Formats: sequence, structure tokens, C-alpha cells
Amino acid sequence: MRIGILTGGGDCPGLNAVVRGVTKSALRRGWEVIGFRDGYRGLVEKDFVSLREHDVSGIIIRGGTILGTSNTANPFAYTLAPLGSAEKPRDLSKLAFKNFSELGLGALVAIGGDGTLTMAQRLYKMGMPVIGVPKTIDNDLSATDVTFGFDSALNVATEAVDRVHTTAESHNRVMIVETMGRYAGWIALRAGIAGGGDIILLPEIPYRAEDIVKAVLHRKRSGKKFSIIVVAEGARPEKGRMTVTRLVKGSPDPLRLGGVSYKIAEILDKSRIGLESRVVVLGHVQRGGEPTAFDRWLATGFGVKAGELLAKKRFGQMVSFRNFGFTGVSIMEAVGKLRRVSPGAQEVRTALAVGASFGNSRLTG
Ligand code: F6P
Repeated sequence: MRIGILTGGGDCPGLNAVVRGVTKSALRRGWEVIGFRDGYRGLVEKDFVSLREHDVSGIIIRGGTILGTSNTANPFAYTLAPLGSAEKPRDLSKLAFKNFSELGLGALVAIGGDGTLTMAQRLYKMGMPVIGVPKTIDNDLSATDVTFGFDSALNVATEAVDRVHTTAESHNRVMIVETMGRYAGWIALRAGIAGGGDIILLPEIPYRAEDIVKAVLHRKRSGKKFSIIVVAEGARPEKGRMTVTRLVKGSPDPLRLGGVSYKIAEILDKSRIGLESRVVVLGHVQRGGEPTAFDRWLATGFGVKAGELLAKKRFGQMVSFRNFGFTGVSIMEAVGKLRRVSPGAQEVRTALAVGASFGNSRLTG
């Protein structure tokens, strides 16, 4: 059999470990492997490379993806023109299908998040034998307990929270660290707990400005003249919206978030609590660099499991990590429904129990 692999959507640490896991295990089964360049662009434009043992050797520790990726290449709404041009997107899914057949492929492994997997599901519906592999630093995909990339991003965010602690304490400042995560607050929540954040602001628990101020003042009065706020980019006030920085035309989700931390700083500055605040927006630093040991392990397991699902012809499935084991679930089950932090979750109660505030006094442990 000859199989194709692609990596789509935003990159994250661990993609190469999956490519390696799929390729090495497939080669051992006697299959041939090709990798499409830049996600679905490679499939639509027949742009690919052959993957042999030496091509994937040594890439387990490398961040990013050796295949390249795209968060706009969509076979169902494709444009050959540069981003932002007036060209109308066309449905080139039949061309993608033709290329797939002409290349003599028996299956496609699509590694990506919600957008990439939704496209994979649509191709599967058209008759393409597809296996999905879930990736995202946001950890917001249903049907898997964890996605690779998340742990690496979490470690970067936690290290940042650790680092601002000493400078916050020295200057008696409020340091506000903004994490990624889009509509889910997993990175902020876990970095907040692991880094000992004082206030954790999540998209799932809208904040009240007065409660953020109260929490900082409470600490000040009890002798702690500094505070660390960990805020997810998707956090929003109780009666307000998320902070959008830009719109990316052609992306499955065109909204790009970012900048809410400046609004939090403004709230504190206006409140005259007598403490200066500073903002650190972590941004893509969270997506770069080498994957952690956990992500390498998870991504390798995902890659090998994808090979197993292929061998069993369990097409239309996505690999998943559930209850400490690798398994297969339908892609349908995984896409469309985000896995977000529940305000009543045990880890939210854990943070409350150690004195953290979620910037909303209505939330109690
Ligand atoms: O979904 C992963 C993610 O890093 C989000 O956390 C973030 O909101 C978004 O992608 C950023 O997208 P881009 O790389 O297009 O700026």
C-alpha cells in the first residue's frame, strides 16, 4: 500500500513525531509513504515528497512540521491566489480526489485540529479512506482526553509565569501573562495552577472588573504587594466580548484573538490601587520549539496507532488518547464540538482551594 500524510492548521510541537511514528511503522509494514506539502495545498496541487526512513530520522525532537502546513488551504473552498486577494474560492475537492487516485494512494492520514479534521471528514464522506490525528495546543478537541502540543505550550506558559514572579515581587507590580487557547482556557488554567497564579481569567468564566481589583487589593492588604494574573486570550468580561486582533480571510475560523491583557491592565490602572501593571503576551512562543517528553511520547503513540487503524481499514476514524490508552473514535465525534473548561470542574475547584481567583466572585469553590 502507498499512503499519504499531511499536517494542516496551526503548527505545534509534536507534529514531526507523528509524521515519524506513522512513517516508520508504515515502512515496517512494507508500505510506501508520501508527505503532502503545506497541508491540503499539497493534495490539491499534487505537491509532495517521498518519506523514507532517513527522511524522518532525528525529527522527533524538532518543533514545527517538516511537511509545512496551512490554515487556509481548504479543498472545498480553495484559492490559488495570495491571501487577501479578491479571487473567489472554488470547490477543488474533486481535483484532490483525482490526485489521490492518480498517486495510487490507499489512504490519507490527516494530522490537524478542528478545521483539518472537518475537511478530512468531508473527504471521507466523498469516499476517500482517511484517518485523523488530533493536534492543537488548545487541547480543545472532543473525543480525546489530550492533544499533543498542549503539554509543550503549557510548559512554556508555566515557565513564563515562574519568570515574571521574581520581577513582580521585586517591583511590587501586577504582572499579566496572556496565553493562547482560543475559546478554551486549558493553557491558562493549568499554567495558572502550576505557576501559582493569583488570578486566572478564562473564556469559560467571564470576569467582572471589580472582582479582579478586589482580588489584587485583598492580596495587597494581606501583605502581598504583587500579583500574577494569567489570562487566556479568549477571556471576556461578563457583559462583553472577546478581544479580536485580526481577521484571517479563508481560515476555517477567521477570528484571531489577542490583547485582552491590555484591557485588564487598564482596569487596574484606572482603579488606582497604587500598583503598576505590566503585560506579557506569550503568543506564538507557545507553539514553537522542541516538544516536551510527554508530547513526543503521545505523538509517537498517535502515529503508530494511526498505522494500526489503517491496517484494520478503520477509515473515518481519528486516533484518540482516552483513559490512559490509545484508541480510535469516529472523526465525526471529534469535530464541531469543542471541549472547554467547565466552571464546576475539579481543577477549577483546586485553584480556588489554593486561593486563586477567577475574577468573578459569583464563582465559589
Ligand atoms: O489553535 C491554535 C492557536 O495557536 C490558538 O491558540 C490561537 O488563537 C491561534 O492558533 C493563532 O493562530 P495563528 O497562528 O493563525 O495566528
